[in-house]
Amino acid sequence: MEHHPFAAAPADAPPLESLPVEPLLTSAFDTDPAGVYGQLRRTYGPVAPVGLMGVPVWLVLDYREVLEVLRNASLWRRDIRYWRTRAEGRLPQDWPLLAGYEVRQTMFMDDEEHLAARGTLHSALGPFQDGRTPQGWELRANVVAYADELFALLAAESGSAGYMDLAAQYTRPLLLMITTRLFGCPVELGDEMVMDLWRMLDGGPDAGPATGRALAAMTRLAAHRRAVPGDDLTSYLLLADPSLSDEQLGRELFMNAVYLNDITGNMVCNTLLEVLRGNATVRRSLSAGLIGETVNRAALANPPVANLCFRFAARDVRLGNFWIRAGDVVLPSAAAAHHDLMAIGSPLVDSTVSTRAHLGWGAGPHQCPSAARELAGQIVATAVGRVFEYFSKVELTLPPDQLPWRSGPVVRGLRLLPVRYELSRSRPVRQVPSGRVTANGVPRPDAPSRSSVHHARGLLASLRHLMFGSRKGG
Ligand code: HEM
Repeated sequence: MEHHPFAAAPADAPPLESLPVEPLLTSAFDTDPAGVYGQLRRTYGPVAPVGLMGVPVWLVLDYREVLEVLRNASLWRRDIRYWRTRAEGRLPQDWPLLAGYEVRQTMFMDDEEHLAARGTLHSALGPFQDGRTPQGWELRANVVAYADELFALLAAESGSAGYMDLAAQYTRPLLLMITTRLFGCPVELGDEMVMDLWRMLDGGPDAGPATGRALAAMTRLAAHRRAVPGDDLTSYLLLADPSLSDEQLGRELFMNAVYLNDITGNMVCNTLLEVLRGNATVRRSLSAGLIGETVNRAALANPPVANLCFRFAARDVRLGNFWIRAGDVVLPSAAAAHHDLMAIGSPLVDSTVSTRAHLGWGAGPHQCPSAARELAGQIVATAVGRVFEYFSKVELTLPPDQLPWRSGPVVRGLRLLPVRYELSRSRPVRQVPSGRVTANGVPRPDAPSRSSVHHARGLLASLRHLMFGSRKGG
């Protein structure tokens, strides 16, 4: 790639603000993002100026350029204070994506500060990373038990065959239970928090207040776990860095909640879709235990973090066919890069592309931490695996190209994943169990109860209501 490390942009190179830009988030983008990326690439090359909710940004489309931006952290900064438009006060105060970017946490740090924060997270996630520690083992047992609980509920409510939404009635409640458990939430980490994370990521009209609410909930949790430590991520973060204030810890939890809850949930749904629409080979590879390969395929086809976080140019630099000026914002698109990678005749690949080349976890110094990837991989594998163990038959009730996707600049996630199912006779679901519940009513796998099932039903009901009743702007 051509670099001009010390050159300033030539005077005749058009600044981002001077270029006419088309809005990225259109109904065409909702239904066919690949088509939109392709059109932009044909018009502008590997980097395109686009409007993001009224603000011009550089969208990075090609695999090679995206990788360069992700890997070169000294040139492409994460700290929002590098953003010239913001520093000059030209960003609308109510710009829907601003609230999330103003939450200062690991993702938006650079250099030593970033390394230290990442180290803290790594130590705190360590005990949960794999099944070899008691905490890791228990968390995995919890994931299995929660999934089983949801199937028991489905059988009790809807019978052994029927219709269901695998997103609203399985994946989202499952991830909510897991987040509650991993974070050590004594209070309701309810469906409203999930929806607030959506509102923030999708940049709906309520994004600002939604960010504030989710952050406040996480700060309360931080304060609680400081007073009453437990065997959970919140307490381990405090142990790894006792100097964290409740507010700082709340901000870190907030970001981790986005990934654990929303992004991991979308990875589950996107992987389920990959299998459901897949041919016999995909299904066979799943039954042969090659779930990792299926997850990689799904990450390549539909990475849940479709467009990664903004980066800001530390100095003038040429990228694609444009000069990016110091302080300009760029949006590296993993989804567009994947289309570039898979394009027939791409100079980057020969006849086959390794599915592991995907950028679903990011790349470079801000890549998803290994402990988080390990944990997320296990959750996705268990959640997806359970579906195909319990169902003898499961098929989409809509053609894949008619499935409704969320609209927004960051996440590629399904609103619904409607299926027709038949529960397997050879793998009966558990009976509705009896026992205890946690303070927030989420079923405890060690002592699940009748009231826990009631609570889970309530959770499902309200999630369904929110899923079908709400619509965020994009
Ligand atoms: C399948 C699920 C997941 C996917 C697809 C995913 C994807 C990603 C991606 C793409 C990034 C980089 C974003 C960028 O560079 O702009 C990232 C960063 C991050 N992820 Fe994950 N993630 C997942 C699960 C998790 C989980 C479960 C956790 C924590 C419990 C987590 C914690 C983080 C953190 C802390 C960062 C920021 C790292 C940094 O800036 O240094 N992720 N993740």
